[in-house]
Amino acid sequence: MRYFFTIILLFTTFAFAKESIAMQVFHTYCWGCHHQTAEAFGPSFKEIANKRKKDEIIAQIVSPKQMYKKLGYKRNSMPSFNDLNATQINAIVTYILSFKDKK
Ligand code: HEC
Repeated sequence: MRYFFTIILLFTTFAFAKESIAMQVFHTYCWGCHHQTAEAFGPSFKEIANKRKKDEIIAQIVSPKQMYKKLGYKRNSMPSFNDLNATQINAIVTYILSFKDKK
């Protein structure tokens, strides 16, 4: 029983840590142009989650200049975030995909 609680505690700590990395990235780098469910300067995370795969989302974050045409945009107004580390990118992509509609 003791181990059970230790394990639960470890899992929740890990889950919160991951979520806060996503929130940090979101508020620092994305929030000015993207909102969770409402259209802003860029599309909402909900819209993105419903039409893109993980790889496409990562490619747009890291090198939008190579990606925007493939996603169907005529212009690119999003800066590249190629200085984010893998943990930050994974966290923000997971966060974006969490807005995908449940079928
Ligand atoms: C200066 C405004 C701006 C910022 C900051 C910004 N974006 Fe964007 N984003 C855009 C615009 C505008 C587009 C539309 C395509 C383009 O311009 O390249 C876009 C497109 C995207 C797309 C692809 C949309 C699609 O149709 O699938 C993703 C994914 C994305 N942004 C994620 C992010 C993430 C994650 C961050 C933060 C790390 C971020 N963006 C920061 C403006 C921004």
